Amino acid sequence: PNSSNQDTRGRLLRDLRISVTDRCNFRCTYCMPKEVFNQDYPYLAHDELLSFEEITRLATIFASLGVEKIRLTGGEPLLRKNIEVLIDMLAKIRTPQGEALDLTLTTNGSILRKKVAALKAAGLKRVTVSLDGLDDAVFKKMNDVDFPVADVLDGIAAAQENRFESIKVNMVVKKGGNEREIIAMAQRFKGTGVVLRFIEYMDVGSSNGWNMAEVVPSQEVISTIHAVYPLEPISPNYSGEVAKRWRYLDGSGEIGVISSVTQAFCGDCSRARISTDGQLYLCLFANDGFDFKSMLRSGKNDLEIANAIMSVWSKRDDHYSEIRGSLLESAPSAGPKVEMSYIGG
Ligand code: GTP
Ligand code: 5AD
Ligand code: SF4
Ligand code: SF4
Repeated sequence: PNSSNQDTRGRLLRDLRISVTDRCNFRCTYCMPKEVFNQDYPYLAHDELLSFEEITRLATIFASLGVEKIRLTGGEPLLRKNIEVLIDMLAKIRTPQGEALDLTLTTNGSILRKKVAALKAAGLKRVTVSLDGLDDAVFKKMNDVDFPVADVLDGIAAAQENRFESIKVNMVVKKGGNEREIIAMAQRFKGTGVVLRFIEYMDVGSSNGWNMAEVVPSQEVISTIHAVYPLEPISPNYSGEVAKRWRYLDGSGEIGVISSVTQAFCGDCSRARISTDGQLYLCLFANDGFDFKSMLRSGKNDLEIANAIMSVWSKRDDHYSEIRGSLLESAPSAGPKVEMSYIGG
C-alpha cells in the first residue's frame, strides 16, 4: 500500500461504514417510506449479502490502509442474524500501529435491550440510537409502524446499564413533523451523559420526496435550545467530525448538530461506505458503487484488493453536500441516488 492515500481533494480514508442488512422493522418516512418499501420491494437475497468472513476480510484490508473506525449500519443492523459474531470478528482486527478499531453501530433501538449484553461482550465499544421524539404520536408518525417511544428508551437504558464508552442519540428533525420535540428531547438527555445530536433532514435516496422546506436548519435548533438552556460551542473531538458540538453552560453535558444541508462538511470527509452486497461507495449521495463482492468471490488476493481500494479512493472527487444547491437547480430530478438503507447511513 502506498503512503499518500489521499483522494483528489487531499482527504484521507479513515472511516468505514458497513451496511449489514438492507432491511428494517421501521418505515421512517425520511428513510424507508412505506409506499416504496412494501412487500414488492426487491430486498437482497441472502447469498447476495457479504458474509461475516467477507466483511471481516474487507475490514482487515481497510484497516491496513489507514481505516481506524468502523460503524455498522443498515437498515437495522441488529436484524442481521448473529450480528454479535461479526462484532467479535471485527473487534480482533488491529491497525498497523497495533490498535483495535473504534467499533460502533447505529441502531433504531427496537431490539437493543435483547442484544446489548452480547454486543458488549463481543467487543462493541459505543452505540448510537436513533430516536425522533418523546411523544408517542409524533414518534409513531415518524417510524410509521406504530413503535412506542418507551421501548427505544428502554434500549438506551439497557446500553447505559452495560456501560458503553459512549452512547449517542440521533434525532432527524423534520419541519412539521417533530420539531416541537426539540426541547423535550434536550431536557430528557441533559445530565444523563447521553449525547443527543440533531440531524438536518437530508435528500438521501430517491424515495423520501425530500423538500428543502422541510429542513430545519441546525442554527434554528441551537437557538431554540439556547433560549431555554444556554449553550456555547466547543471544539471537535477529532478532525472531520460530522457533528458540531455545543455544551450546556450549566455543565450538564453536550449536544451536537449535523448540518449536511446548511453547512456541508465534505471538506474533510474521510468516510467510505460498503453496501449490504459489497459495493464500495465514496459518498452518501453517490449514484454508483465499485463492485468489491465480485473481487472477493473471484479469488483476488488481499494485495490486489488493497490496491483496488486505493486506486478508487485516489480518484475520489465526491463533495455532494457542497454542490447540492447548484445540482438541484440544474437537474432537479437527476439520476436515482442509492437508498440509505442499502448503502448505510
Ligand atoms: P460519530 O462521530 O462516531 O458519533 O459518528 P457519526 O456522527 O458519523 O455517525 P452517525 O451514524 O450517528 O451519523 C449521524 C448522521 O450523520 C446520520 O444522519 C448520517 O447519515 C449523517 N452522516 C454521517 N456521515 C455522513 C457523511 O459523510 N455525509 C453526510 N452528508 N451525512 C453523514
Ligand atoms: N436525513 C437525515 N438523516 C437520516 N437518517 C436516515 N435517513 C435520513 C435522512 N433522510 C438517519 C437515521 C440514523 C442515521 C444513521 O441516519 O435516523 O440516525
Ligand atoms: Fe430503519 Fe433507521 Fe431507516 Fe428508520 S432511519 S427506516 S430505523 S434504517
Ligand atoms: Fe462525504 Fe459525500 Fe457526505 Fe460530503 S456528502 S460529507 S463527500 S459523504
